[in-house]
Parts: sequence; C-alpha cells; structure tokens
Amino acid sequence: MSSSNAIKKLSKAARIILVGAPGVGKGTQSNRLITRYPQLSSIATGDLLRDHVKNKTSLGQQADAYMRGGKLVPEPLILNLILTELTSRSWITTDKSNDEIIATLGKGTTIQPSESPDCSFILDGFPRTATQAQALTHVLPMNLIFHLMTPAEIVVKRMSNRWTHASSGRVYNVGFNDPKEPGKDDVTGEPLVQRDDDKEETWRRRLSTFEETSVPLLNFYRDRSPDMVVDVQGNSSDEISPQIFAEIDKRFA
Ligand SMILES: *[C@@H]1O[C@H](CO)[C@@H](O)[C@H](O)[C@H]1NC(C)=O
Ligand SMILES: *[C@@H]1O[C@H](CO)[C@@H](O)[C@H](O)[C@H]1NC(C)=O
Repeated sequence: MSSSNAIKKLSKAARIILVGAPGVGKGTQSNRLITRYPQLSSIATGDLLRDHVKNKTSLGQQADAYMRGGKLVPEPLILNLILTELTSRSWITTDKSNDEIIATLGKGTTIQPSESPDCSFILDGFPRTATQAQALTHVLPMNLIFHLMTPAEIVVKRMSNRWTHASSGRVYNVGFNDPKEPGKDDVTGEPLVQRDDDKEETWRRRLSTFEETSVPLLNFYRDRSPDMVVDVQGNSSDEISPQIFAEIDKRFA
C-alpha cells in the first residue's frame, strides 16, 4: 500500500468530524490525515480553550469561571471559540460579531465558511451530542462525518492491558511490552496493579456511555444527509486509515 504515504492535494473544502469510541484511535487517524493532506488542519476545542485561558482573553476568562466552578463550559461559549478561531484565520467573513451570531442562532443566521480547499479542517472535541451538532450546523455546516467502528471486545482488550508498578510508576502493556515475569515488576519483582482508569469494567462503561450519545449524534447527521456519514470498520488503525483516505480522495481531492 505504497500510495497510503503519498501527499494529496484537496480541490474542495473538507470539514470533517471523526466520531469514534474512546480507544479506537481518533487521534492517530487525525494525525495521519493532517500528514496526508497538508491543507487540512485540526481544530481542537480543548486546545482552543486552553490557549484562551492561558492568554486570559475574554472568552478564556468566562470559560475559566465555569471550569473553576466544576461546570461544563456552555455550548454558546464553545461555538464562540470555534467562530473566533475561524475568523482569525479569515476562513469565515461576516459583518456580524460572534456574540450577535450566537445570540440569533437558529433564527435564520447561518454563516457560509470559505469553500477554498485551504480552509479544510477536522473539528476535534465538538460536537459530542446531537444538540451540539444542531447548534454547530447553524454556524458551520460540516460536510463529512466518519464513524470509526472497532468491535468493543477488541477495544477493551487493547486498552485494558496496562499494568503499573505502583511505587515507581513503571508501566507494562501485556502483549507488546510484557514484564519479564507475568504480573511482576522487572526491577523489584513486586506485584503489578491495574489502575481503575485502565480496568476492563471502566473501559466497558466508557464505551457504553459513548454509544448512548453517539447514536443520536450520528442520526442527526444521517437525517440531514445520509450521504454525509461514512461508517468505517476496522480492528486496527492500519485497517481504518486506507478507507478514510479513499473516501476523502473520492470526495475532495
Ligand atoms: C495566545 O497567545 C499566543 C502568543 O502571543 C498567540 O500566538 C495565540 O494566537 C494566542 N491565542 C489565543 C487563542 O488568543
Ligand atoms: C476483526 O475482529 C473480529 C472480532 O474479533 C473478527 O471476527 C474479524 O475477523 C476481525 N477482522 C479482521 C480483518 O481481522
């Protein structure tokens, strides 16, 4: 598969969302996409949030107040962060302020992002729910949603194989970074433990929570346009990437 390493030029603007359970490798796919399509950038709401908080912008200070209070940052604020980023890149032009746009969301205000292929991006971290997707659609119509699907059994097996030596923090991965003696730290010979975060039941719970919110999210986009959502099945990142590449090549290259 030599062509999978090739760099490809886009001829149309791609606005992509990757929907996939924790552990299916969205980050891996995102990095591979950015490498293959240099016009594509990743816009990660988590990173935007951190930058704004660090720079103490007005949005950052508002968001920080929610986070310090242990609350979720509300949707309009996240939308504002995304709009601010796209405006600063000159990817959308509008004579309205972001606050005006967000205040009139869903009441006829829509924004047309630039269709230049250089304004292509993967939106990371948002939307996670159907409600968020609906809010986003008013300001920024996405045009390709990948649903990355790996059997839960495989994800759980892959992710719940981390064992830790508690006092040193040394980490072992069963299957590819095994301790010399099963269940024991290489250096001290002390027993290894599994952190709650790494336990099988934690992963099962994460996957079922994901399922609950992603089904309505995907249905929202399917209802808008069945053609917009592409299911990609694979047991590993290497099985998934070529399918994603092929779809993007077909639609945007
Ligand atoms: C934060 O500040 C850095 C350094 O001045 C700048 O490059 C970056 O664009 C700023 N980001 C935001 C979101 O204000
Ligand atoms: C992927 O995993 C499933 C379930 O373990 C298995 O049935 C299937 O054959 C695997 N597919 C490939 C291509 O290895």
